[in-house]
Amino acid sequence: MKIAVLGATGQTGQYLVSQALQQGHTVTAIVRNPGKLTVQHENLKVVEADIFSADSLKTHYIGHDVIMSCLGFPTSFFSPVTGYTLSMKATISAMREARVNRIITMTAWYTEPNSGQQSPFLIRWLLLPMIRSVLNNMLEMEQFLQETEDINWTVVRPPGLRNQPASAQEFLTHEGYYVPNSIDHPVNTAVGRGDVARFMISLLSSNAWVKKGVAMTTK
Ligand SMILES: NC(=O)c1ccc[n+]([C@@H]2O[C@H](COP(=O)([O-])OP(=O)(O)OC[C@H]3O[C@@H](n4cnc5c(N)ncnc54)[C@H](OP(=O)(O)O)[C@@H]3O)[C@@H](O)[C@H]2O)c1
Repeated sequence: MKIAVLGATGQTGQYLVSQALQQGHTVTAIVRNPGKLTVQHENLKVVEADIFSADSLKTHYIGHDVIMSCLGFPTSFFSPVTGYTLSMKATISAMREARVNRIITMTAWYTEPNSGQQSPFLIRWLLLPMIRSVLNNMLEMEQFLQETEDINWTVVRPPGLRNQPASAQEFLTHEGYYVPNSIDHPVNTAVGRGDVARFMISLLSSNAWVKKGVAMTTK
């Protein structure tokens, strides 16, 4: 497949680009800092574009089968985070103009504000309040996608990310804001970035989570 990747220079993005190339896909990495991308491959093209401009993105989307996004924006206590929604709105406009209709993007567990009630104490009372501005904007982006009927979107929600390459562990998935165990508590708290990339790439050959938000982790 021909894949355009946003956030390709990020920690998850680099795993995603490497794995996609290893599996025989052709990748266009759409970045702002080309020097940060350490991967090199004959089927990899690196281009610079403005993720907030549909015009800038459109040219690079033409001819691709799917857009994959590992974009991330820092938390802020003083102003709302807007990067997720603004970049997604530009991307969806660009996809329509470029006639691409599949996007796989990542957010996180607990984007819905009440969904963290069963999470461990420190996550509930320390981490989630600290990153709430990020989670809020991720949720707004998810809601925007839910209203986008002409595009086949999938939102992949991982728990905390560890900088680990892909494993062979089985995936656990749930259509919701976290992966619950038998008593509705979150099954664990972290997953390797390489496994998130592996899961996102696995969706290229499956329609299972089209127009859905899927919480994932590994066993
Ligand atoms: N940390 C966690 O435990 C955790 C848990 C669940 C979900 N998540 C979410 O998962 C996603 C990926 O996380 P990560 O740690 O892999 O991300 P990351 O390493 O911080 O990478 C973020 C990517 O977004 C790009 N980016 C940010 N602002 C941009 C802009 N204005 N223009 C162009 N590119 C821009 C960065 O580009 P540059 O390289 O040029 O900066 C980078 O490629 C994020 O949305 C994160 O919030 C994180």
